[in-house]
Amino acid sequence: MERETLEPREAEHRASLRQRAFEILEHSRRRDLASRIVDGVLVALIVANVAVVIAQSVPEVAAQYGGLLTAFDRLCVLIFAIEYAARIWVAPEHLMLRGRGDAMARLRFAGTPLMVIDALAIAPFFLELLFPASSVILLTRLVRILKLARYSPAIATIGRVLALEKRALLACVVILTGVLITAAAVMLAVEGHKQPERLGDMPKAMWWAAAMLAKIGGGETEPVTALGRIVAAITVMLGIFCFALPVAIIGRGFYEEIRRRDFVVTFAMVARVPLFSRFDAAAIADLVSLLRARTVTPGTQLMRKGDRGDAMYFIASGVVEVAGDNVDVRLTEGDFFGEMALLSREPRTATVTAVSSADLLVLDVDDFMRLVDRLPQFKSQIEEIARERKEGKADGGAGDRDEL
Ligand code: CMP
Repeated sequence: MERETLEPREAEHRASLRQRAFEILEHSRRRDLASRIVDGVLVALIVANVAVVIAQSVPEVAAQYGGLLTAFDRLCVLIFAIEYAARIWVAPEHLMLRGRGDAMARLRFAGTPLMVIDALAIAPFFLELLFPASSVILLTRLVRILKLARYSPAIATIGRVLALEKRALLACVVILTGVLITAAAVMLAVEGHKQPERLGDMPKAMWWAAAMLAKIGGGETEPVTALGRIVAAITVMLGIFCFALPVAIIGRGFYEEIRRRDFVVTFAMVARVPLFSRFDAAAIADLVSLLRARTVTPGTQLMRKGDRGDAMYFIASGVVEVAGDNVDVRLTEGDFFGEMALLSREPRTATVTAVSSADLLVLDVDDFMRLVDRLPQFKSQIEEIARERKEGKADGGAGDRDEL
């Protein structure tokens, strides 16, 4: 009998422990001290470990401090292995993996890019046991630097920019390939018979064209005819154009992304908003692409009573104050505001001001309309809260509501 009452409690305890471990390892809330400490220690270990690997490649350093450096490396591997196991353990807590069963969730999680990098970070230790004197080991150990990707929002931004600009970048690849083949074919026709050993077939001519396009020169292959030189000059100029184009596209995309977002909206951030916590992974992924982030300082007026509604806001962190005719409330993390004007298409009913510095997720009116069309559940939940607010029943937002 006693066993029966203990077991669910034990399971509950284990679940809450896993939940807490998940928050520390994967959520990285700005205000969670434990999470920040764990992140800080891991980042310091990764940097120190890479420095040690580099130092170990210097024979004099290796001769003098070899033992110490190896011991540190082993310690790092041990900590990285514990970190890896812990991340796998908490994997079922990820919203996008929920409902798949623990084993399946862990398996799927192990295949995500960041976890593959984590696995590669500990793999060299086992490789070393199998092939003690291999020079490839050094290279595989340096892969650990990639672990920093998890802690760099800038890398996430670059990934986003590449994904957003993939069509334009693909067009650049097509243009580059076209120019490469054309330059090679022209050079083959012009000088193929004069320099058969260097330009006598398409692969050789393409190698020459690639070198010219990349502005590293044609190596030892100099054009020997006037026409050949003209072709070479045009190829170099086209090379500048072909390489400048993707650089400009990525640069502009990166600038836009940074300008639009003070911070990067992540899946976890959106999933934490109570209103969205019941949404499935696909809907949340959709939201991640629609929401724009905005950080505001205390005292920033976010909307004025009587203004036209252009967006609604979700509070990722911080406090705002809503002041209107019959209302004076504070909304906090997880709440939302600015929905009434969008739903009714009437002017703002209150003035909203940031009380503390706050991270907000902004949903522009067009995206809001698209979303309510696509997700009736989203619409009905927001409508219900807006109605309660209007009738004066609610003094807060979604964050106060357990059922959402
Ligand atoms: P909107 O009218 O677009 O702009 C002002 C916002 O203040 C409004 O949407 C609501 O999101 C919010 N608001 C108005 N009244 C209340 C209330 N009683 N409780 C919480 N929030 C409110």
